[in-house]
Amino acid sequence: MIKPTVIVSGKNGQVGSELLLLHVSYPQFNWVFLAREDLDLFSENSISKAFQEHRPKYFINCAAYTAVDKAEEERGLAEKINAEAVGFIAQKCKAFDTILIHLSTDYVFDGTGSSPYRTDGETNPVNFYGFTKLEGEKLALQNNKQTIIIRTAWVYSVFGKNFVKTMLRLMNERPEISVVNDQIGSPTYARDLALAIAEIISSEKKHFGTYHYTNQGVISWYDFAIAIKEISGSGCKVNAITTAQFPTPAKRPHYSVLDNLDLQKDYHIQPRSWKVALQECMKYLQRL
Ligand SMILES: NC(=O)c1ccc[n+]([C@@H]2O[C@H](COP(=O)([O-])OP(=O)(O)OC[C@H]3O[C@@H](n4cnc5c(N)ncnc54)[C@H](OP(=O)(O)O)[C@@H]3O)[C@@H](O)[C@H]2O)c1
Repeated sequence: MIKPTVIVSGKNGQVGSELLLLHVSYPQFNWVFLAREDLDLFSENSISKAFQEHRPKYFINCAAYTAVDKAEEERGLAEKINAEAVGFIAQKCKAFDTILIHLSTDYVFDGTGSSPYRTDGETNPVNFYGFTKLEGEKLALQNNKQTIIIRTAWVYSVFGKNFVKTMLRLMNERPEISVVNDQIGSPTYARDLALAIAEIISSEKKHFGTYHYTNQGVISWYDFAIAIKEISGSGCKVNAITTAQFPTPAKRPHYSVLDNLDLQKDYHIQPRSWKVALQECMKYLQRL
């Protein structure tokens, strides 16, 4: 029997790297992992070539322009990668009868809410990155019926740059650090998200549309830093500050907790607690 092919773009990113690690547990698929050199979202030609060559049953788009602050300046580039390229990938998916799994963000919401955002909650991005990701979602859904959008948040892993690795480095270098305490959300271990994606494509019955996936629990970045300090045993002092005391080029939503219920209902995927996931990731980080 011919195995269905799964293309994973952005193979060197956090989620792409985790999928690369766990794909051996899903031998029913023919996995094709593509880095920027193999599949450049900036080039329609490159995208077309990948579809022509591999004829995928699934396309998991882990590639994105993820520099939130820089996106305020590099608007054209962010829009090209996060919106236009996604629209083109979705067109190709339609032509090749491919199921598109596309990752998006909690930053599509403005963060003025006070209860977890449902998948059909009103979107209103407060920064340009969020705007481009929302445009990408719309084009993906418009251009290909067989699309699954997964919005996630606060992603970390042993790979790439992320909050956990930055905190560990700073806690090592400095006696004292300050972390914002008035942005509230839920962290996501990229390994757990990758596993959820693999389960979705393995699921017999597919449901299309928009889903949310984060680990369970609601915390501030300050709470997150305190947990990292405690697990690592660092002696660094962590101070709580407000967003106003830590200005960044791109505005962030104050409250961006995502309601994961639709994914539990349709795919029976139950994320574990953020703290258990963090403990596991830090165990791997401490071994490196
Ligand atoms: N990180 C978060 O906290 C977070 C939060 C919410 C949502 N998300 C979403 O989750 C998804 C995965 O995030 P992540 O943290 O895994 O991202 P990441 O680690 O920043 O990886 C993104 C990948 O995209 C690749 N890429 C960038 N431009 C490209 C292009 N023109 N062509 C091909 N590849 C390109 C990068 O390639 P290089 O390795 O060559 O640079 C990188 O490997 C993204 O859609 C992101 O928007 C992330």
